[in-house]
Amino acid sequence: MKRDRYCGEVSLSDVGKTVTLCGWVHRIRDHGGVVFLDLRDRTGVVQCVIEEKDDSELYDEVSKLKPEFVVGIRGDVRRRPEGTENPKLKTGYVEVVIRELEIFNTSEVPPFPIDEETHVSEELKLKYRYLDLRRETMREHILFRHKVYQIVRKFFDSKGFIEIETPFLTKSTPEGARDFIVPSRLHPHKFYALPQSPQLFKQILMVAGFDRYFQIVKCLRDEDLRADRQPEFTQIDFEMSFVDEEDVMEICEELICVLFKELLGVELKRPFERLSYDEAISLYGTDKPDRRFGLKLVDLTDALRDTEFRVFRTAIEEGGIVKSINFNNGNLSRKEIDELTEFVKGLGAPGLAWIKVEEGNLVSPITKFLKEKEIKAILERNGAKEGDVIFFSSGKAEDVHRILGNLRVHIGNKYGLIDENKWDILWVVDFPLLEWDEEEGRFVSLHHPFTSPRDADMVKIEEALAVDETEERKRLVSSVRARAYDLVLNGEEIGGGSIRIHRRDVQDKIFKLLNIDEEEAREKFGFLLEALKYGAPPHGGFAFGLDRLVALMRGLDSIRDVIAFPKTQKGICPLTEAPDYVSPKQLKEVHIKLE
Ligand code: AMO
Repeated sequence: MKRDRYCGEVSLSDVGKTVTLCGWVHRIRDHGGVVFLDLRDRTGVVQCVIEEKDDSELYDEVSKLKPEFVVGIRGDVRRRPEGTENPKLKTGYVEVVIRELEIFNTSEVPPFPIDEETHVSEELKLKYRYLDLRRETMREHILFRHKVYQIVRKFFDSKGFIEIETPFLTKSTPEGARDFIVPSRLHPHKFYALPQSPQLFKQILMVAGFDRYFQIVKCLRDEDLRADRQPEFTQIDFEMSFVDEEDVMEICEELICVLFKELLGVELKRPFERLSYDEAISLYGTDKPDRRFGLKLVDLTDALRDTEFRVFRTAIEEGGIVKSINFNNGNLSRKEIDELTEFVKGLGAPGLAWIKVEEGNLVSPITKFLKEKEIKAILERNGAKEGDVIFFSSGKAEDVHRILGNLRVHIGNKYGLIDENKWDILWVVDFPLLEWDEEEGRFVSLHHPFTSPRDADMVKIEEALAVDETEERKRLVSSVRARAYDLVLNGEEIGGGSIRIHRRDVQDKIFKLLNIDEEEAREKFGFLLEALKYGAPPHGGFAFGLDRLVALMRGLDSIRDVIAFPKTQKGICPLTEAPDYVSPKQLKEVHIKLE
C-alpha cells in the first residue's frame, strides 16, 4: 500500500474521497460490532472505523490489531455523525471507513503507553527514546527545532554569512570547561580534544577573509550537568569582520525577532534593553536576571554601618555588605519562613534574618538589636507595607548577591510571582574582562582570553602590568571592562559573545595578566597567535545556545526535551548505554593501558 495522505491532514474537504494512510495503531476501541482505530503518524491521528456488518472478515482482522502495530489503511473519508465530533483534534470532524488493511509490522507491548498522561521515569523514557519521541508533545518539540534550523539558515544566508564546518578532532579550546579527549591510534600517546566551541576556528576564518561565518554546531564540554546543561549541546555560532559590538548585537536581535515572530507570532520590542553587569549583580544578584517579577535587592550597608546587631556590623567591618529583598504581600507563616531559611542554608548561608510587617507591628528575630532609625531606613528603602516580609543577607558582596539572587528566584518560582506570559529579554554588557581566582591565585578570563578590553581601559592594563604589588594590580584590573555581551531570556543565558583581540601585542598583554607564559600560550593556541600575525581584521561574534533558546520558546524547564537523544543528568545515554567499556584490543590500538 502506498500512502497518499498523512493522517493529520485528512479534513472535511476529503469527504467522499478514498485515501491511503500509513502509520501506527495509536488506540483501538472495540464497541462490539464497531471498531474505532486511531491511526497515528508524524502529523497527528485520524479516526478510522469499521463495522462488522459491512465486512466481517476485515472487521476481524482490524479487531486483532494492537497498539503500535504498523499498518496501511485504505478507506473512504466521511463526516463524523453529529454529536461525535472532536473539535480538539485537527481531524476531529471526519473519520475514515476502512476498506483495506495491510499489516507492515507487529509490535510488542511497549514498556509505557504512547500518551501524554502516563508518568514515566526519565531513565525509561530515554532508554526507549524512539517510543517517547512518538508522543505528540515530543514530536512537536523536535519539529519546532527543525523549523528553528531552517529559519536560522535562511536568515544568515540572507545577511551574507557563509556556513562553514569546523573540525571535531582538534585541540583544546578555552571555554573554561574540561575537554573530552580522543586518543590517536596513528600517533601514540597523543590525543585530540573535542571542541568546546568553534571559537578559535571562527576567528581564523576571519583572518582567512571570509568576513561573515555561521554554523549550527555541536559543542562538547565535560562539565557537571544541570537541567540547562548537556555534555554535548548545539550552538548557533557566528563571527563577523570589520564590526563593533553594535553590529553583532543587531544581528542577534534581528534573528531572535524573526524566530519569535515566525514561530510564536510574538513581536519583541527592539532594541532590547541593556543592563550593565554591575547593575545586574547589584539589583538582581546575578548576571542573568529574570525581570518578570520584582523583589529587587536593596542595599542597606551605609544605613547599618554603626548598627549594634553584631552579624551585620562584623560583615560591614570586614568589607562586606548588607542587602535585603522584600517579598511584597508575602504574608508568610513561620513555617514558610523556616523553609526559606533551609533553602539559603543549602547555599551556604549561616541563616536568614527577616522582618515581617504586620498591622502596626513588626515580627522579627532581629529588630530588638536594631535602632529605630535603622529600622526606619530598612522599611523605607524596601517600600515596606503590611503583609510584606523582608529578608536579609550580610557578608562578602559576592556571597550576598549569590544568596539573595537565588532566594529571589526561588521565591518567584515557589510563590508563582513570575508572569509566564511575558518575555523578558535583555543584554548584559560591560562585563569585567578578568576576575581574580582566589583558589588559583591569579586572574582568569570571564569569557575567554581572546575577548577584547575596552579601548579606553588599555591604559589601566598597561599600568597594571607595570605594578608589582598584587593588591594594586587587582584594583586596576578590576575596573577593566570587556567588549563582551550576553543575551538573557527569562533569567537564562541564551548566548554570549564579544569583540575579539585582533592584535598580537594586545593579546600578549592579556596573556601576561592571565599569567600565561609564552611557552604555554604557544602550546595551547599557538596556531591562533600565529594567524594574528598575518593581517587579522578587527572581528567579533556571538553564539546562541540553541537548546536553551528552543526550550525557553517552548516553555520547557529542561533542554533534554528539545534534544532527540540527550544524556541524563549523570551524562549517560540510556538508549545506547554510552559511555561504555571498550575491548582490550581497541585499547591496545590506541596505546592505552587502564589503571
Ligand atoms: P559560551 O560558552 O557562552 O560562549 O556559550 C554560548 C551559549 O551556549 C550555551 N551553553 C550550553 N548549553 C547547553 N549545555 C551546555 N553545557 C552549555 N554551555 C553553554 C549557553 C551559552 O550562552 N565561543 C563563545 C561564543 C563567542 O564568544 O562567540 C562561547 O562558546 O546558552
